[in-house]
Amino acid sequence: MAVYAPLDLGTVCGYNSLGSIQDVDRLYPPGCGGALEDIVSLVPVGELRRKITVSSLRDKKLHHEPITCLTAYDYSSARLIDEAGIDIVLVGDSLAQTMLGHENTLSVTIDEMLHHTRAVHRGVKHALLVADMPFGSYQSDPIEAVRNASRFVKEAGAEVVKIEGGEKRADLIRRIVDAEIPVAGHIGLTPQSVNVMGGYKVQGKNLSGVEQLMRDAVALDRAGVALMVLEGIPREVAAMITAEVETPTIGIGAGPDCDGQVLVFHDLLNLSFGHPAKFVRRYANVGAAITVAAEAFRADVAARQYPSDEESYHLPKETRAALDTVLERKRAMRR
Ligand code: KIV
Repeated sequence: MAVYAPLDLGTVCGYNSLGSIQDVDRLYPPGCGGALEDIVSLVPVGELRRKITVSSLRDKKLHHEPITCLTAYDYSSARLIDEAGIDIVLVGDSLAQTMLGHENTLSVTIDEMLHHTRAVHRGVKHALLVADMPFGSYQSDPIEAVRNASRFVKEAGAEVVKIEGGEKRADLIRRIVDAEIPVAGHIGLTPQSVNVMGGYKVQGKNLSGVEQLMRDAVALDRAGVALMVLEGIPREVAAMITAEVETPTIGIGAGPDCDGQVLVFHDLLNLSFGHPAKFVRRYANVGAAITVAAEAFRADVAARQYPSDEESYHLPKETRAALDTVLERKRAMRR
């Protein structure tokens, strides 16, 4: 049975964020919202959740336990995902599209990625925190690539950095791993190569494509990656790679035989615009819920139905009486 942390609501709720006590209106009602979130954790104290590490992912692969991964880009979503028991939180460069409204991932900068990774880091306690290195931050100079990778660890709390590409990235990956920074690989449909691929196309559909993917996967495995993302490849190829390599494979559009699965947060919740890819399963309709809430708020404000008297702060009785006296005196003087 789960045991929850004891909570002295009386003490906690007696104070509001202005530092005043007991008899004033509370900014937040007892037991919910705002300042209390730092004290009330949804994670039951009695349920031991171990920190997910690079080596626990390997254990999961060995024991055929499916690995779960979701993207997150800010504190609140990261915290909810972490508390839901997801193994890996990925600050994907997909944030260029989902959060910043860009057409593709190419224009997101290292500073933007660091900014979002820092926010996610504050929300994650148990999951392994992986951050994407953006386009242009590792492709040209290996020394600069290692320096950029270490910024993710030092300045933003990432535990693993992810870079796209297979065979051709093996030497760079060794250098980053040598610098004590775990690396996640990413092969198949690699969105940072959109202009080279001529669009977002499933990779490895012909024999030479399959051979290249196998070479890429083995090269990443030998270079010592902590995990590898397999994106947009036939199920059969993902199954072969997963059986061949010791590294845990995390699939997205790569079928069910990978060691784990990743989805983009906005796809999971139907918060994205446009037609979803074939592999996307919507687990909630949050986009529609936001629209309904925003429209209801607009209608209430327009009809002066929000806020109500109960949702308003009031003067204490004595102040009210004193104010009435002052106002009455002013009115009398005007007469
Ligand atoms: O950026 C991202 O969200 C990703 C996932 C699709 C794996 O790389």
